[in-house]
Amino acid sequence: MEISSNTQALAYLVSAILFIFALKGLTHPSSARRGNYYGMAGIALAIGATLMGSEIQSYGFIIAGVAAGAVIGTVVAMRVQMTAMPQLVAALHSFVGMAAVLVAIGTYLNKAAAGQLNAVLMGELSAGIIIGAITFTGSVIAFGKLQGILSGAPVKFKGQHMLNAVLGLITIALGVHFAMTESMSSLLLMTLLAFVIGVTLIIPIGGADMPVIISMLNSYSGWAAAATGFTLGNNLLIIVGAIVGFSGAILSYIMCRAMNRSIINVVFGGFGSSDAGGDSAAAQAVQKGVKSAAVEDAVYWMEDANKVIVIPGYGMAVAQAQHALKEVMELLEEREVEVKFAIHPVAGRMPGHMNVLLAEADIPYDNVLEMDEINPEFATADVALIVGANDVVNPAAKSDPASPIYGMPILEAAKARQVYFLKRSMRPGYSGVDNLLFYQDNTSLVFGDAKDTIEGMVTALKGGGH
Ligand code: TAP
Repeated sequence: MEISSNTQALAYLVSAILFIFALKGLTHPSSARRGNYYGMAGIALAIGATLMGSEIQSYGFIIAGVAAGAVIGTVVAMRVQMTAMPQLVAALHSFVGMAAVLVAIGTYLNKAAAGQLNAVLMGELSAGIIIGAITFTGSVIAFGKLQGILSGAPVKFKGQHMLNAVLGLITIALGVHFAMTESMSSLLLMTLLAFVIGVTLIIPIGGADMPVIISMLNSYSGWAAAATGFTLGNNLLIIVGAIVGFSGAILSYIMCRAMNRSIINVVFGGFGSSDAGGDSAAAQAVQKGVKSAAVEDAVYWMEDANKVIVIPGYGMAVAQAQHALKEVMELLEEREVEVKFAIHPVAGRMPGHMNVLLAEADIPYDNVLEMDEINPEFATADVALIVGANDVVNPAAKSDPASPIYGMPILEAAKARQVYFLKRSMRPGYSGVDNLLFYQDNTSLVFGDAKDTIEGMVTALKGGGH
């Protein structure tokens, strides 16, 4: 069945509205599932309307591509670990970038053969190819760093920024030349240099800043898609590309703010490699030593508490401790202990990481509070139970101007009467910065895998009690 271009335009409009509802739904865990359904309906409608359009000449390649993509996508989605999500997202962005490059080159060849090229289209093609190529190689490097195939350490050399600036200017000049002359060699050289820029832009960025870069590449992939939309004259692609472009940019900004970094600092700086130095507060605190405690000690304090605040972090995700944590919550609530979960905006390794895991364990949303809501409550909490979190509770962010994380807003766990850290070793968190909270008088470390420790708490709570 073929539909008219008006019907197709209407279907695209409805799709665009569904995507906006999807984004709205994704703003809260309780409506996220609904948001996903809106998104799925929007994309199904968009694909259906496109396939029924008059421009489709043969379905063979399309069906083969959809089938192959569906199989690969399903297998990857079922296998991927939650902690490997950022690199999966990076890999997916690289596909968007490559698609933009290929569509633009394909369109150029088609339109050139049909004698339908004009200056505006040529400009769009140049922009689409440059953005797409940078997104492609940039995402491939980000994937390699996050997957551990490439070193996560920043790769820096003298004159790096100058090199990037020169490469950028030459690429733009080639883009203009291509748009004006349709020169094939300018097209090829421009594409090649844009691929190189993707690499040189991302290699100096340290592993710790990668999630921000992923979000920026997400934004680039949106702009690449929008450019492709202009090339193909597809309004939906332009709308969706712009939504992705802006939301990626806004997310990068929010993440940087939550880490007290400027975007410029992330893009041009190296983080995680710095050392706080001998005379810093951290170095002095190290000399005080730390206390370690047994599971039973923590349980003893928790079951007698009025309020326990749990602070989940990356280690909870690694240990997959969220289900056991739910049991601890229920056992404590049976003893009339109030249990709340405190979420730092950059806890874990991706935005919303902790919310997703707690929702997976069916921990009620009402028990889960964001940083600004929960911080005033620490002063009245009997126990702060820190489950595989580290940087997000480090008081050095407030008290040690020499610390690389100085200025980052933190969860005020230090104010609770007792602080228990569940972690495996004395290793620092993602930023590589020593945690001053380890050395506070009311802090104890319960060493071990977080899931084992929490399961131990469940056993103790079931066995003991009043
Ligand atoms: P981190 O500071 O990275 O600390 C994680 C802690 O978990 C470590 O101390 C580690 O100690 C412990 N751990 C790891 N595996 C464990 C296991 N199986 N059982 C128990 N403990 C385990 O985590 P965070 O507090 O969530 O902070 C997030 C960091 O990532 C911040 O620096 C943030 O800026 C950065 N970051 C986050 C994002 C987003 S969007 N979330 C984006 C960019 C950067 P042991 O090794 O001793 O066990």
